[in-house]
Amino acid sequence: ARVQTEPATEAGTIDALRQNARHCTRCDLYCRATQTVFGEGPVDAQIMVVGEQPGDQEDLAGRPFIGPAGRVFHDALARAGLDRRALYVTNAVKHFKYEPRGKRRIHQRPNMTEVQHCRWWLTQEIDIVKPRLIVAMGATALFSLTDRKDRLEDVRGQPIIMDDARHLFVTVHPSYLLRIPDEIKRNEAVARFREDISRVARLVV
Ligand code: URA
Repeated sequence: ARVQTEPATEAGTIDALRQNARHCTRCDLYCRATQTVFGEGPVDAQIMVVGEQPGDQEDLAGRPFIGPAGRVFHDALARAGLDRRALYVTNAVKHFKYEPRGKRRIHQRPNMTEVQHCRWWLTQEIDIVKPRLIVAMGATALFSLTDRKDRLEDVRGQPIIMDDARHLFVTVHPSYLLRIPDEIKRNEAVARFREDISRVARLVV
């Protein structure tokens, strides 16, 4: 992967940034992914939501959070009275990382180096959108935004004030909820996730 430390261009607008990101080769994940899945939403959104990386369906569609995890997320938003179209929704990593298994593509977690390379884009998305509140869904988003490797349970559910005075709110990743095998535990975890998202809604009124 090519390591770039200085901005090659000042993209300036979110559309220019998205255009630049289409050709990203900052790490090797572009080789196997279908396309860059960039953030989407209003450039003046008050809330920015950051996930981990696109999944199988997002990779094919080119849009974040439109697959199974997206459904859990949208359901929580709707219950909290939030409209996805008012949020800027993006990911820490913009290319789908997977392991081929037969016809299936199995999600693989991005490593620290990949997250650090892709922070290039996330940082610029934040600079342009200037959200009042950033919601980190999962440990990868938290690490990308803060360099912190806290246990999610230690930091979730309460706004954290960052160095740049922005507010960060941490919750779990919706894909994690889908992977909880026990139905009762899963329903409890989904309920807590919904509570977190309702808290987000109350933070910005
Ligand atoms: N999981 C994520 O973190 N982001 C997506 O866009 C889809 C699934």
